[in-house]
Amino acid sequence: MTIQYNFSLKNYNTFGIDAKANEFIAVHSTDELKKVLQENANKKKFILGGGSNMLLTQDIDALVIHIDLKGKKVIKEDENHVWVEAQAGENWHEFVLWNIEQNYGGIENMSLIPGNVGTTPVQNIGAYGAEIKDTFISCKAMQITTQEIKTFNNGECKFGYRESIFKQEAKDQYIITSVVFKLTKNNHKINTGYGDIQKELESKGITQPTIKDVSDAVIAIRQSKLPDPKELGNSGSFFKNPIISREQFNKTKTQHPEIKHYDVSETEVKVPAGWMIEQAGLKGYRDGDAGVHARQALVLVNYGNATGQDILNLSKLVQKKVLDKFGIAIEAEVNVI
Ligand code: EPU
Repeated sequence: MTIQYNFSLKNYNTFGIDAKANEFIAVHSTDELKKVLQENANKKKFILGGGSNMLLTQDIDALVIHIDLKGKKVIKEDENHVWVEAQAGENWHEFVLWNIEQNYGGIENMSLIPGNVGTTPVQNIGAYGAEIKDTFISCKAMQITTQEIKTFNNGECKFGYRESIFKQEAKDQYIITSVVFKLTKNNHKINTGYGDIQKELESKGITQPTIKDVSDAVIAIRQSKLPDPKELGNSGSFFKNPIISREQFNKTKTQHPEIKHYDVSETEVKVPAGWMIEQAGLKGYRDGDAGVHARQALVLVNYGNATGQDILNLSKLVQKKVLDKFGIAIEAEVNVI
């Protein structure tokens, strides 16, 4: 465990941005983490997990602590359920696949989401009709100033759409070290409600899908639309799908009758930002090495040597074009550093 100086973060963020950390250290256990926090109490710190949901627009003038805690185990079980605890540094997708191999169900719809287990609660990751909050029991988190470990249960995390307490009042105060999920051992709740999954399964002639079939279908859909960060730098959806009032939606709809939406409540609807970006003519748009992905307009990509600033400038252009055309503001889902 040694501090490295002027350290390139290119391989530590899925956008592949070559920003530098003034100081960098990787920790592999909660004891190491505690020690680093104690020994560097007065330094500015920046916590880095899988680097899959951030855009680095500048070098980081702080001690970057990379959370590399590994391990997963069953901590409790009953006839129908299993409680699995995973350390924060476990790769999310590998964790999903491991659970499917054990026939533990509940997270298969979230196959192939980049990032590590420890960051999944922060933005309540979700895809294809499932969210972390549906199977999340609790997480342990170390308070940065006191090094005390606190357990947050599901309610305490205040989950919302791509939201949690860790993006709000607990921001920059805690480091999540492990997460417990409650999964099914039998009677799996197979969730194929999301249009494309059903279509994908039908194309393979599957009528009674297993959790593995659902995972395979999600993987196939994601691979057809979403770029692999190892091949093309990206951070998944760059923007959130905006939630607007039904009143505003109805107004927009008079000018754009073909606009799509999902119901959120009686008074609010969610509008697919990817659709609006495409309608604004930006799908596949490229400026230098920064681009809007050609197969999913919600995703911004780095074709090689884009800087974080290049991507940020492109994101502002996208926001402006969507606002001009639809009168709807879209905000970044990715953390802009
Ligand atoms: N659409 C377009 N053009 C595009 C992209 C989308 O017309 O370029 C339309 C689609 O045809 C569809 C609608 O917009 O009618 C929604 O598209 P899609 O199903 O691809 O999902 P999304 O709303 O764009 C969200 C999540 C993704 C998640 C998918 C599937 C957010 C911000 N994004 O995207 O999550 O994989 O649903 O559940 O909620 C991520 O957060 O990084 C992420 C990839």
